[in-house]
Amino acid sequence: MNRLNGKVAIVTGASSGIGHATAKLFATEGAKVIVGARRGAELENLVADIKAAGGDAAALAGDVRSEDYHKALVALAVEHYGRLDIAFNNAGTLGEAGPSTEVSEAGFAEALAINLTASFLAAKHQIGEMIKHGGGSVVFTSTFVGHTVGFPGVAAYAASKSGLIGLTQTLAAEFGPQNVRVNAILPGAVDTDMYREMNDTPDKQAFVTNLHALKRVSRPEEIARSVLYLASDDASFVTGTASLVDGGVSITRT
Ligand SMILES: NC(=O)c1ccc[n+]([C@@H]2O[C@H](COP(=O)([O-])OP(=O)(O)OC[C@H]3O[C@@H](n4cnc5c(N)ncnc54)[C@H](OP(=O)(O)O)[C@@H]3O)[C@@H](O)[C@H]2O)c1
Repeated sequence: MNRLNGKVAIVTGASSGIGHATAKLFATEGAKVIVGARRGAELENLVADIKAAGGDAAALAGDVRSEDYHKALVALAVEHYGRLDIAFNNAGTLGEAGPSTEVSEAGFAEALAINLTASFLAAKHQIGEMIKHGGGSVVFTSTFVGHTVGFPGVAAYAASKSGLIGLTQTLAAEFGPQNVRVNAILPGAVDTDMYREMNDTPDKQAFVTNLHALKRVSRPEEIARSVLYLASDDASFVTGTASLVDGGVSITRT
């Protein structure tokens, strides 16, 4: 408890899944949380839940592809809570899947825009505000897909998510001197809407489950705990990492 007391955080992709669980955990740990995603009603429900549990949060609905949206999220954090210490840039999409020879240019570009360019735009506007108050922590949601494991049929997803690792390393090196830490978290399969969309039959779910050393997929709350670590001062000497939280999917060959 209270590991984020006095901190102000932005969480994107907070309307469901990993972002939703992380926003709740951040609030439980004392952070004031600005939550973002396109579905405003889900965000308002989340804010109500956080407030009912004694926490503090505010929502702003929008599309992470818009640079103005990131400016507005930072402005809201400053207006409501006076500062910004933590950003979990987590909104993402699977994008157009299928044989790479058939993926459209627009589908590939859309995945890059939501998963990679949006994360760059977010950090671009968050880091300056963090520096004003002595530094902060930025966490991006990448994935093991395209980093430690190659899967067929997900070129846009893998390319956009592995691009986040280069972005992480660059920002960590660039802003380390100002005490801004930047890390990427690489979850294994997590039981969320995205996972169920990708694995829409019991057979597919069994296949993916079996790829993990732990022989199960994660709950969003388990990923949230690792994001909390990276966001908090417990990780004060951790920066520039591609942090696997993947149930052993990257090392399993059985
Ligand atoms: N589930 C897995 O197995 C897994 C594994 C590794 C990494 N990840 C990554 O984890 C992150 C969260 O995904 P999830 O598994 O929690 O799935 P999810 O429940 O589908 O969450 C995706 C989130 O991203 C938001 N989002 C998508 N496009 C957006 C846009 N253009 N603008 C604003 N928000 C947008 C969605 O909100 P709205 O629809 O309301 O906009 C939603 O809140 C993603 O980056 C995903 O790639 C997931």
